[in-house]
Amino acid sequence: MELELEPITPVLGARVRIGAADVLRPGVAEALLAALDRHDVLVFPRIGIDDDTFLALTAALGEKHEVKATDDGSAASGKGIFRVARDKDDRTQREFILGNDFWHIDGMNYAVPVKATLLKCERAPREGGDTGFASLRAAWEALPAARREALAPLRVGHCLSACLRRLYDAPTAADFARWDAVFARVEHPLAWRRRDGQTTLLIGSTANDIAGMDAAEGRALLDELVEWSTQERFTLRHHWHDGDLVIFHNAGLLHRSYPYGDGAGRVMHRTTLKGSEATTSGGAAALAY
Ligand code: OGA
Ligand code: MN
Repeated sequence: MELELEPITPVLGARVRIGAADVLRPGVAEALLAALDRHDVLVFPRIGIDDDTFLALTAALGEKHEVKATDDGSAASGKGIFRVARDKDDRTQREFILGNDFWHIDGMNYAVPVKATLLKCERAPREGGDTGFASLRAAWEALPAARREALAPLRVGHCLSACLRRLYDAPTAADFARWDAVFARVEHPLAWRRRDGQTTLLIGSTANDIAGMDAAEGRALLDELVEWSTQERFTLRHHWHDGDLVIFHNAGLLHRSYPYGDGAGRVMHRTTLKGSEATTSGGAAALAY
């Protein structure tokens, strides 16, 4: 099955020209997975699929993660869709969504990282709220060989507090306890060499420290690597319209939302697909985030 694909930048992203009625046809899921491996971000402009099609497409592509931790009582939530919106008075959910504004990788609490994330635009923001993607593969390949060699043996600790503490001037012990209950420190290789031979830097907002390195030094290295990886030449920025769908290869990218206000009316429906490859970190976190 041949998909009609239109590359977006020289290093990542492709627009997929397909109608809502065709996404569940035989062979489409396989073709989309192959396109995802190649382009990392697939954009379906204004495709306008409903939630049941969204869930069926997710199931056709792989195994969906459960998202109990972010259940908000909505109809979408009841179907196992995570509703990314700022209209609910729920602290955990609100922090999670505000934290999306920092470059990150989804599901770094798992020893087996999330394979892909699907975002469907229910209501485009009136202002702000684009989504950015940065190719960690391209960023890694562009590093000088000596630098790659120096980074290869390092290990990185990830935890939710590394990200969410940035939302507060003076986070309290109770804040840290709340975040640790969802996603306490998990260690991964900093430069994760995947089965397909590609290397992904496991960095972003949840990266907290480099194992065995002085805290300030580790912080500086992590910040430098995010800065390097999010240069314009490695990135793509998606401006949302109602009905857009984006599927992105989670572990090969950093992604983020750009700031938007509570009043922007932005609503996304989100599902995530389980990966099949452990970072060989050993300790698996049990809770979904
Ligand atoms: C997410 C996420 C970004 C966005 O849901 O995991 O990072 O733009 N969303 O909403
Ligand atoms: Mn995310």
